[in-house]
Amino acid sequence: MRVLVIGSGAREHALLLALSHDPTETALACAPGNAGTAAVAESYGVDVTDPVAVAARAREWDADLVVIGPEVPLVAGAADAVRAAGIACFGPSAAAARIEGSKAFAKEVMQAAGVPTAHGEIVINPAKLDAALSRFGPTWVVKDDGLAAGKGVLVTTDLAAARNHAMILLENGHPVLLESFLDGPEASLFCVVDGTTVVPLLPAQDFKRVGDDDAGPNTGGMGAYAPLPWAPADLVKDVVAKIIQPVVDELAARGTAFSGLLYAGLALTSNGPQVIEFNCRFGDPETQAVLALLRTPIAALLNAAATGTLAAHPPLEWHDGYAVTVVIAAEGYPARPRTGDVITGAEHPDILHAGTRRRDDGAIVSAGGRVLSVVGTGSTLTEAREDAYRKVSEVHLAGSHHRTDIAARAAKGEVTTR
Ligand code: AMP
Ligand code: GLY
Repeated sequence: MRVLVIGSGAREHALLLALSHDPTETALACAPGNAGTAAVAESYGVDVTDPVAVAARAREWDADLVVIGPEVPLVAGAADAVRAAGIACFGPSAAAARIEGSKAFAKEVMQAAGVPTAHGEIVINPAKLDAALSRFGPTWVVKDDGLAAGKGVLVTTDLAAARNHAMILLENGHPVLLESFLDGPEASLFCVVDGTTVVPLLPAQDFKRVGDDDAGPNTGGMGAYAPLPWAPADLVKDVVAKIIQPVVDELAARGTAFSGLLYAGLALTSNGPQVIEFNCRFGDPETQAVLALLRTPIAALLNAAATGTLAAHPPLEWHDGYAVTVVIAAEGYPARPRTGDVITGAEHPDILHAGTRRRDDGAIVSAGGRVLSVVGTGSTLTEAREDAYRKVSEVHLAGSHHRTDIAARAAKGEVTTR
């Protein structure tokens, strides 16, 4: 099977690495990729925002299966274009990708499916903002109702800050979503879906704030680990039954069946799991940890989802133990990442590339905010952390920063659900 992966992050590097271990895979390509993906797959340029260009690239390369990593091409309709070209595609249609592309659509689907989620209100008119804000608090959750790469959300106990964030969004023409605050630890559950059948992966947790102890602004994600030693034993079964399957069934009933990866971002509250958000693709950086533990060949799994045959796929097999991934970010990330710095010490195969490129002189340099995703594994979370941070210490990138506390509280048994 010839597999083309669309995207250029560490998530795509992790997918390619997993795909390369599948005996049914015969050739791998990545577009546009990065310096790390180029070591495991042929590299091609492509404008990921242009569905026609993505489909043309797939046809030219004679792909049997296209795996689309990021949300932007999915929301733009890249999967529709690839399927229209007669090629199997792992990733939802534009209509189904709205579950991520529009938070208002996601809320409406959840309401129709009876899925527990935060109460939300959309504000479009600035004159109605203050009255709306007064119906929320003492912790305000203010979101951009469109794709914002995880950076459009402000969670704050400061009403003035909440108001200011909402006003900036409104002044830029973005509808604002206000939400009630969900308390409790967060979990990410990824499910492979073929329109009807749901196959859950191991639950993971990611770290969205830039600094240790969750200080500073939200980012695309600074680290992750899987599975969750503190989670109730029936968590995955419970979430599939009460949240994922009802949403998959609701989308199918609307004629917009979801095929691809449905990602539920959850808060495990005292009232049970509630949805914070849905994403229409693998999460980054959780994928880097989750796939490090998957034993089942992934090309056949993704192909089964793309061809509607998941019900006949054998149960997934996993390695014992834990995986931790730590993101190494560029100086200035997330506000103003500096690029062009030389990276050394990142040759280990467990060091996945995100914002990197190979310079003409052969040096690997930073080319984005999140630069590397370092993966460690071990029989305990503590060992997996030590493995990851040992590899992190070998990397040199001037001005870079990373969190030192990824999975630390979970390893010490300090994460609990009430
Ligand atoms: P999102 O982009 O919707 O995933 O939001 C980014 C982060 O903001 C989430 O991972 C949560 O940490 C936080 N967040 C979003 N919505 C809520 C909510 N309703 N209650 C509590 N925290 C939230
Ligand atoms: N890990 C968060 C995301 O992929 O959106």
